[in-house]
Amino acid sequence: MTLSEARQKLQKYGQEHLLKYYEELSAGEQEALLEQIQATDMEVLRECSHRGELSNRGEFTPLYAMQIPEIEKNRESFTAVGVKAIQFGQVGAVLLAGGMGTRLGSENPKGMFNVGLTRELYIFECIIGNLLDVVRMTDTWIHLFVMTSEKNHEATVRFLTEHDFFHYREEYVHFFTQEMAAATDFEGKIYLETKGRLSTSPNGNGGWFVSMKKAGLLELVRREGIQWLNVFAVDNVLQRIADPCFIGATISRNCAVGAKVVKKNAPDERVGVICLEDGRPSIVEYYELTDEMAEARDEHGDPAYYFGVILNYLFKVEELERIWQKKLPLHVVEKKIPYLNEQGELVKPQEPNGCKYENLVLDMIHQMPSCLPFEVVREKEFAPIKNMTGIDSVESARKLLQENGVKL
Ligand code: UTP
Repeated sequence: MTLSEARQKLQKYGQEHLLKYYEELSAGEQEALLEQIQATDMEVLRECSHRGELSNRGEFTPLYAMQIPEIEKNRESFTAVGVKAIQFGQVGAVLLAGGMGTRLGSENPKGMFNVGLTRELYIFECIIGNLLDVVRMTDTWIHLFVMTSEKNHEATVRFLTEHDFFHYREEYVHFFTQEMAAATDFEGKIYLETKGRLSTSPNGNGGWFVSMKKAGLLELVRREGIQWLNVFAVDNVLQRIADPCFIGATISRNCAVGAKVVKKNAPDERVGVICLEDGRPSIVEYYELTDEMAEARDEHGDPAYYFGVILNYLFKVEELERIWQKKLPLHVVEKKIPYLNEQGELVKPQEPNGCKYENLVLDMIHQMPSCLPFEVVREKEFAPIKNMTGIDSVESARKLLQENGVKL
């Protein structure tokens, strides 16, 4: 893109300030900046002024969830089906580790965080250890796909390599990087990260399948005969991955996707609740729940919208191949974004100072024809680490790890 073409594009979107330092840059930096301007999708930034508005949703109705008593009754048969699928090589795992973990505030990728107290115990180590339990149980290595972003790829690969993949077989670990999106102030103006570079951040966890495809990993999925992909978040240290019982239940119920869920611990808990929207599986955010929905009861007197998702989904690959080109809704999220101030100095803000533009994996559920919400025991499988202290924190996760017999 030439300088005048760049000017035209920036003018169209009100982003001319991005060329403020152009004359100070070297020829190489100028070229890189023009390339970045060309590659950046600025159309999405229009959504900035609509953030916080509720999007138009369809009609919500409850969705049946398979609850613990029913799971326990069928545990043996579900597990047998799941073990068989794993042993036939039909299951792969996808670790979503491209996020910036800004709430935790560490410079390193979140998986590198040490949750140990008297010894080193990293988040990546907890997760890989949990997956190794299944490898040992089934005597089968499971392909593990790890999504990183350009911001944390190198550090992640270096860390895992240095730690010998925490005993995982290296040839079963495949990295891929996700796409980036521009980050803006609250008015939708893109920040500069350096004088010659627009501020960018990972574009949310919803692009994982497209990014896997772009990285050529679908060839491997096809070649290996992987039919199910278990997608999960990096920050839940009690996460059970490739859980044979969950896999068996989803296959036995002939569903396009399975979602691990927990009973909400309070009506206002900040988790998305699984339900139907216009007859298709969907997730309603906690702030979208109306009073009427919050008060609705099922035939047992329990809340009709009771089950929160914990970012552990088992997708049928065939369905992903069918929907991958469909657009997902855009989420404008307020976050802390490092930026160059008027004096050209880098500022690392303490409070959210702008917006990131993300697609989310939870929106893929609505593109699936059927979904099995599968209840798990919260205290055993849900210890998310979002913050240092308080709710969903290093503190609360440590307590849960200890309650589950993990020595810290
Ligand atoms: P979060 O929504 O908690 O975001 O991610 P985050 O970026 O890690 O943390 P904050 O909000 O800045 O504090 C949930 C999961 O999705 C992954 C994260 O790595 C985590 O496993 N994720 C998130 C991505 O892989 N890519 C993204 O762009 C965003």
